[in-house]
Amino acid sequence: MTDSNAILNAFATLIRDKTIVAHEDRASGPLKCGVDLGTANIVLSVLDADNRPVAGATHRSTVVRDGIVVDYIGAVQAVRKLKAELEERLGEPLLQAATAIPPGISPGNAKAIGNVVEAADFQLMEIIDEPSAAARVLKVSDGAVVDVGGGTTGISILKNGKVLDAFDEATGGTHMTLVLAGARGLSFEAAEVAKLDTANERDVFAVVQPVVDKMASIVSGFLVNHDVDDIYVVGGACVFSQFEKVFASQTGKSVHKPAEPLLVTPLGIAMYENNGPEGSLQ
Ligand SMILES: Nc1ncnc2c1ncn2[C@@H]1O[C@H](COP(=O)(O)OP(=O)(O)OP(=O)(O)O)[C@@H](O)[C@H]1O
Ligand SMILES: [Mg+2]
Repeated sequence: MTDSNAILNAFATLIRDKTIVAHEDRASGPLKCGVDLGTANIVLSVLDADNRPVAGATHRSTVVRDGIVVDYIGAVQAVRKLKAELEERLGEPLLQAATAIPPGISPGNAKAIGNVVEAADFQLMEIIDEPSAAARVLKVSDGAVVDVGGGTTGISILKNGKVLDAFDEATGGTHMTLVLAGARGLSFEAAEVAKLDTANERDVFAVVQPVVDKMASIVSGFLVNHDVDDIYVVGGACVFSQFEKVFASQTGKSVHKPAEPLLVTPLGIAMYENNGPEGSLQ
């Protein structure tokens, strides 16, 4: 995971500092974009032809819920805004992009996600399932990838680089915030702020740990039918420093958490094979 962590840290710095990798430091070929339409965040990732990060931007989201577009116009506008922001920073147009869906989403909802990307004037290159996108970044070919996002927890089982089985449960960081809000008598918004304040992490984790236990038991239940030794956790809700320890003790598996868990899936979405227009979905 050392390699992946270096790439994830570099990507996080580009987003935070609003910087780009200069032309002369990139592999030649068209820039590749990934659009992650998450429940909590929309992330636009830009990579060079060798899958190295070039730029990125992220925006809080309310337009998609658990892989379902609930505000189509808002979603298109949000993607267009991120695209325009990065095009300005890069000084060139962004032409092609891939996107992703949580495992288990219906074909109609997957199409809506793809339509958002096309309506934002991207040539749509691929629609991948989110845990497979994460697996590309982590170079995992065998094991379970668990993406604990805002609204959903997706589990994918990989064997020889292929997804054998996948499952999606409607729990994630939003669920943690609701539990914290209930326990402390806070509004959802105030609880979300309290949850993200690292100074509170110990106290917050004590309150939300039952949600993590529940997630781990869902994952364990799913793994009963699979021969898996390693679990790779990604997504914003696994950022808590105790998360992997709790997951490991509940599941009895080796649990690995990369650097910048929020950015793993968004980065992997842009790592599609670029076989030129004839090899694309168009
Ligand atoms: N430092 C942190 N500590 C705890 N939770 C965090 C932290 N940072 C982000 N989160 C939580 O992670 C969630 C967002 O994660 P992520 O961006 O992976 O979700 P998403 O992709 O938008 O949602 P989904 O994949 O479920 O559609 C939110 O609930 C947010 O509160
Ligand atoms: Mg997500």
